[in-house]
Amino acid sequence: MLQHFDPKLDYSRDYGTPASLSEKQITLEVDGVEIRVPEGTSVMRAAALADINIPKLCASDNLEAFGSCRLCAVQIEGRRGMPASCTTPAEEGMKVSTQTDKLAKLRRNIMELYISDHPLDCLTCPTNGNCELQDMAGAVGLREVRYGFDGENHLQAEKDTSNPYFTYDPSKCIVCSRCVRACSEVQGTFALTIDGRGFDSRVAAGQDESFLDSECVSCGACVQACPTATLTENSVIEMGQPEHSVVTTCAYCGVGCSFEAEMKGDKLVRMLPYKGGEANHGHSCVKGRFAFGYATHKDRIRAPMIRDSIDQPWREVSWEEAIGFAAGRLKAIQAEHGRESVGGITSSRCTNEEAYLVQKLIRTAFGNNNTDTCARVCHSPTGYGLKQTLGESAGTQTFDSVLKADCVLVIGANPTDAHPVFGSLLRRRLREGASLLVADPRHIDLLDTPHLNDSMHLPLRPGSNVAMVNALAHVVINEGLEDSDFIASRCDTDGYNQWRDFIADVRHAPESVEEITGVPGDKVRAAARAFAKAPNAAIYYGLGVTEHSQGSTTVMGIANLALATGNIGREGVGVNPLRGQNNVQGSCDMGSFPHELPGYQHVSDSVARGHFEAAWGVEIDPEPGLRIPNMFDAAIAGAFRAMYVQGEDIAQSDPNTQHVEQALRSLDCLIVQDIFLNETAKFAHVLLPGSTFLEKNGTFTNAERRINRVRKVMPALAGKEDWEVTQELSNALGYPMNYSHPSEIMDEIASLTPSFAGVNYDKLEQYGSLQWPCNDVHPEGSPIMHVDDFPIGKAKFAITEFVPTTERANRRFPLLLTTGRILSQYNVGAQTRRTENQVWHNEDVLEVHPHDAEERGINDGDWLGISSRAGHTVLRARISERMQPGVVYTTFHHPHSGANVITTDNSDWATNCPEYKVTAVQVEKVTQPSEWQKNFHDNHHRQQGFLREARTEVS
Ligand code: SF4
Ligand code: SF4
Ligand code: SF4
Ligand code: FES
Repeated sequence: MLQHFDPKLDYSRDYGTPASLSEKQITLEVDGVEIRVPEGTSVMRAAALADINIPKLCASDNLEAFGSCRLCAVQIEGRRGMPASCTTPAEEGMKVSTQTDKLAKLRRNIMELYISDHPLDCLTCPTNGNCELQDMAGAVGLREVRYGFDGENHLQAEKDTSNPYFTYDPSKCIVCSRCVRACSEVQGTFALTIDGRGFDSRVAAGQDESFLDSECVSCGACVQACPTATLTENSVIEMGQPEHSVVTTCAYCGVGCSFEAEMKGDKLVRMLPYKGGEANHGHSCVKGRFAFGYATHKDRIRAPMIRDSIDQPWREVSWEEAIGFAAGRLKAIQAEHGRESVGGITSSRCTNEEAYLVQKLIRTAFGNNNTDTCARVCHSPTGYGLKQTLGESAGTQTFDSVLKADCVLVIGANPTDAHPVFGSLLRRRLREGASLLVADPRHIDLLDTPHLNDSMHLPLRPGSNVAMVNALAHVVINEGLEDSDFIASRCDTDGYNQWRDFIADVRHAPESVEEITGVPGDKVRAAARAFAKAPNAAIYYGLGVTEHSQGSTTVMGIANLALATGNIGREGVGVNPLRGQNNVQGSCDMGSFPHELPGYQHVSDSVARGHFEAAWGVEIDPEPGLRIPNMFDAAIAGAFRAMYVQGEDIAQSDPNTQHVEQALRSLDCLIVQDIFLNETAKFAHVLLPGSTFLEKNGTFTNAERRINRVRKVMPALAGKEDWEVTQELSNALGYPMNYSHPSEIMDEIASLTPSFAGVNYDKLEQYGSLQWPCNDVHPEGSPIMHVDDFPIGKAKFAITEFVPTTERANRRFPLLLTTGRILSQYNVGAQTRRTENQVWHNEDVLEVHPHDAEERGINDGDWLGISSRAGHTVLRARISERMQPGVVYTTFHHPHSGANVITTDNSDWATNCPEYKVTAVQVEKVTQPSEWQKNFHDNHHRQQGFLREARTEVS
């Protein structure tokens, strides 16, 4: 396991080797200082914990000790020679000397050899002042180099500048292998090797390719590990060393990595993964590490804008005028069309405090429950399904828990692309020997994990998840593999008996559902046995589970499987939804849904409602309000007239784009608060500049329920943080809000939300982060849920009948389209498209299996028209065997692709989560864009022109 956050550690220091988690303590003496450390701690780390810094070059505290440079040699009483302190475990009673004449001489000799093959350009080197080689030369007192600089050397070696974010300058390499080990041990990509031997040895990416052409995924782990200027961030080369840093949380995916935002004045130089972050332990992916340039992109909206109609140019106005205009319109619309005629959407990208405030604004100032969030279109079935079965709408584990799993079942998720830092952790566990089961229509990269021990791919057909999880559970029950003790003690007996009779029926047998899933029955049986027999089996799932007409049913089926096998309530097991956006968990927790107040308290619950009514001083409607799709339908019908959208791009992200566009066009007033003129803003009447995560204070809650601080590192570009704007809109509407800092909003959340009762900013400072529930019962938070009992007492098995989607392949639409994400881009791409990440994915393509391509005469790179019953769009073809025949795949990161023009308005029966993952389509070669794409381009240019006009007028 990895070490928990320890406030006594200085995470900006490198303690040389990883922490030992042994509970047994031993005592040793280093330079006469008595030190007590856990057994298994290296001598180097023990010394470092007592502030005795032994020189080192090849060791780093996130890598296993390697023992190659010998600079860390020490002398140990009673032992011969000078062992390396990084590879020598501390022992009880050991007496270590780190500073003797003999050691000093040895270290100077070593450094002399390194320096004799090093360009002596320290003064102009980008890492001058932050270079371990330079520090070590100083530390060992190197004053001369006897070997001269004229011999054979690497000083003219050519730089590799292919990666947009970092440069490889081999002339500075000391071949310490830290980069190679970081790529293997931390990232798990194995893209680097040390090529050649002796003097000729050098770091090589891939098969001696450039970094860009190799398998490197630009996570930055090697750059962070490098003790010299060999691997250096381009931003550091351009801007110089940062001067100060602030710890904050990544605003991309639901892993919620912690970073030190390293600054020079108010300019961000580098995002360095923070070792004290418990979600990432100092690791990162290309998005959080490097793709932050969008924050200062020229496209940022810097001033509020208004217009009377969407066919008019924008007018840049003051904040007061824009907010007054928005409030005036909202009031007039409600006066004419009623209280229910307006609503809003909270953002899963904004902070908890901001999401809380938007839903509060809607329930108080708007006076209705017409609040929803983009979790509607991703993980709403998770909330519903887990609440029904386990009693709480959240995942059950920490990410680190996977390091104790023996079998990992991944369903409908692609962690190495969508949740990369968790993907690396999972790969580490797989290398250690855990077995992997993947149920996915597509061959995902996880199946190609280097040094994978045991894996099985169940390439099921899109839309057959329920049949698959039922078949797995059927085998568990019919082969007597269930955990009877767990079921008897932790689950509702009547419900279990009913479910057992249901699932034991032969219609759920793997062989019976072969026709549906497309996966041979014996394979499913083998997978079920592997899962049930593993001491610890864990389930990880993503949008490939939820975004279906039976998304909620699959979530409940997953919970059934975990309960039946007793895989809940301890480390190494559990039900783990991998959340898409950074704050999906948080926006749901904060009461963004129309039927739930913060903390999943139903609006019909009079006691809960009473608490909020007393605190907010308003009456709250006991009936749920409109969900996003209902808002669209009501807008088209004329009953819903105005919408406030904070930080979501519903015009791009929601299904059936033409329907969404029609709805947005029907509104009398659309208020969009965002950092760019996104697709939704093109239909807006008021555009309020949003602030990025770098420009505000608050908290995000990641997929492990971890509440992490977001800290402001630079002033808000347009002068206001998002919560301030919501507050001003509320005040303009006549409902007073007077917060002076987001910590006050969190205090209010804690006072009204039982699972957050013990959360406050001071405690977050003290603990680094907190996993809810955090209250009197769990004052330090709850890393693992349901350890002793469930919030509903006993867990409930759910009957999960498979009901095929109505979206089926037929003669007209013979292929099934499914969608997903790619590592380098994020969601609608608004941020990543405005960074160098474009190098890896500058357009969405349609992956087609070679059989389907051959049948249609399609070649790689051809333009393909894709038609569904919802619409038609055009993408370039990529022939790929990742898909099974009959299934095609695309991403949705570029708006002009129109991926959602073809997705339908089918949705989950319980939550209306759209069925993005199954669309029956036909594809054919074409020569020009679709009608929708042509219109999209026209409107795009027109709206951009309106924006330019507004800016020109002001300047
Ligand atoms: S950036 Fe990451 S993936 Fe690429 S070589 Fe370095 S450690 Fe490996
Ligand atoms: S590139 Fe850096 S980390 Fe890698 S071997 Fe060279 S000096 Fe060491
Ligand atoms: S894994 Fe997710 S949270 Fe972590 S750096 Fe990447 S995008 Fe950010
Ligand atoms: S730091 Fe110990 S051998 Fe290099």
